[in-house]
Amino acid sequence: MRLTLTRPDDWHLHLRDGAALASVLPATARRFARAVVMPNLKPPVTTVAAARAYRDRILAALPRGAVFTPLMTLYLTDRTEAAEIAAAKASGFVHAVKFYPAGATTNSENGVTDWRHVRPALAAMEQHGLPLLLHGEATDADVDVFDRERVFVERTLPPLRRDFPGLRLVLEHVTTADAADFVRTADANVAATVTPQHLLWNRNELFRGGVRPHAWCLPVLKRERHRQELLKAATTHPRFFLGTDSAPHPRHSKETTCGCAGIYSAPAAIELYAEAFEAVGALDRLEEFASQRGPDFYGLPRNTQQITLRQQPWTMPAEVPFGEHTLVPMRAGEVIRWRLDDGQQN
Ligand code: NCD
Ligand code: ZN
Ligand code: ZN
Repeated sequence: MRLTLTRPDDWHLHLRDGAALASVLPATARRFARAVVMPNLKPPVTTVAAARAYRDRILAALPRGAVFTPLMTLYLTDRTEAAEIAAAKASGFVHAVKFYPAGATTNSENGVTDWRHVRPALAAMEQHGLPLLLHGEATDADVDVFDRERVFVERTLPPLRRDFPGLRLVLEHVTTADAADFVRTADANVAATVTPQHLLWNRNELFRGGVRPHAWCLPVLKRERHRQELLKAATTHPRFFLGTDSAPHPRHSKETTCGCAGIYSAPAAIELYAEAFEAVGALDRLEEFASQRGPDFYGLPRNTQQITLRQQPWTMPAEVPFGEHTLVPMRAGEVIRWRLDDGQQN
């Protein structure tokens, strides 16, 4: 069986930098025409100048002949000025601003500590129509790790919506029925991205036969009930679209006493979504989710090229090169049901 769809885009992606960037970029560029590139480098991408330089490094790292456009983001800090937001909009290559609560996830130390500090930047984004991308988790130490997204949705989103009703929001990597409900019932300014792992796995995967550091990401996998709600939203709702959150970390940083959060899905990203949609009989909605709703929300043209997937099983390698290290991809050593039909080997 074959499935042809408009070439998809990835609306949430970590590409890292340097040798790591060169290792992971080809897998994404092979499948996607564009990707929203996260700014959580060290140091973070907080200015238009830094975003331009990072964009140049990404373009320079592309394999020969690849046609791929990185859509850049700025990392919101307590000190981001309204003028930087205006410059971002004027740049034409910065498409959004990323909010990390300080301490929530990988390289979020420079994130926002207090919403009051970022009000001028948010007002400028509202004015210029630049979306705010949210890592939506409450970081208070007394909030249960499985409740962090729900508490963020309940505590933080209502005042944000009230104070900046025209601000376009993307709730990134949604993991709960609570987040899905919020987005479904909000107006057209609010959207969400959904990862392959949150559509394919519930939290049992973290403990399948033993503790599995490569299934550890943030927000952490949730109960089956939530996964079912995410599948429903992704397959039916116009404001839920593809964002892999592919987040590579070297093997040794995950297989250790205190391992990093992040799942690397890029080598089978669209194939994994095809599996998830197929499992609920919704393959006919994959193109909408992967190739149409994202550009529609961001106000960008839909892609015109196509890709073809073939139902032909292959085995994901146990590890792949990552700069001078290695990296364990999602579903390492396991069978992937769909194959990208582009003449290249997996
Ligand atoms: C991401 C990373 O490693 O950069 N990790 C993750 O678990 N998702 C950061 C993020 O998206 O929160
Ligand atoms: Zn995040
Ligand atoms: Zn991410």
